[in-house]
Amino acid sequence: MTSAEPTKAGARPKRSTRKPLVSANWKMHHDHTVALHTVRDLGMRLRPEDTGLVEVSVHPPFTDLRTVQVLVEGESLPIALGAQHCHAEDEGAFTGEVSAPMLARLGVRYVIVGHSERRTLFGMTDELVAATLRAVHRHAMQPILCVGESAQERDAGKTESRLAAQLESALGALAPEQMASLVVAYEPIWAIGTGRAASAVDAADAASFIRLTVAERGGPAAGEGVRVQYGGSVNPENAADFLAEPDIDGLLVGGASLQAPGFAEVIRAVGSCYRSPAT
Ligand code: PGA
Repeated sequence: MTSAEPTKAGARPKRSTRKPLVSANWKMHHDHTVALHTVRDLGMRLRPEDTGLVEVSVHPPFTDLRTVQVLVEGESLPIALGAQHCHAEDEGAFTGEVSAPMLARLGVRYVIVGHSERRTLFGMTDELVAATLRAVHRHAMQPILCVGESAQERDAGKTESRLAAQLESALGALAPEQMASLVVAYEPIWAIGTGRAASAVDAADAASFIRLTVAERGGPAAGEGVRVQYGGSVNPENAADFLAEPDIDGLLVGGASLQAPGFAEVIRAVGSCYRSPAT
């Protein structure tokens, strides 16, 4: 199946009150000149019929943010500015770190919090994730909270207990109304950058578990409102399969978001799940 063909969801448009969010996590790729070209190219490829249905965020490295901000605002592109991380404190002696107020000042709307690379490579604990969620909210931005199990945890049947522990700690930092506008990215660690995506069924099970956990903790409105993304080896061919699942409301895309043509195809595939075939 190519992304241009109607998907199984495209045949009967997905009914959801939640607007899907497709986010580009560029990690440590693209300097500010490449970022400029890539976002400009993406802006030209996005079609109003897709961006009307799908929210798009781009999360470049810190050094690119100002450049991308000026481009997006200057050309009124339908792209939200995102960051990949921030420190939990607003200011202080934290050499090399960037704070939430600094990001807010640049017009950043979404901040990825607790990506597995931050957790495993940079020692970000659940406690630090919770404190960072609070910092992002203090400055009126939206966190994209990442959760996910390792291959060993999955093999040992511990996927749900790992997700529960990560969520328990993170949700403790949030008020119910903050949970209702939260984005949680389910990213199984073994699927990130490996070319081995989770099956749509497994991703949907995890997404349902996440929604249920948020509902238990924050009430029905929180469970209904939280948007759950899937991330891990997403590409234009598999994107629509995930969105066909009722509890999956978007994608966090790494490698396939680095080039504008491929990322635009992912966005189009997501849009196709929400559009009636005639449009
Ligand atoms: P990937 O990365 O799409 O390259 O697997 C996803 C992520 O880490 O957010």
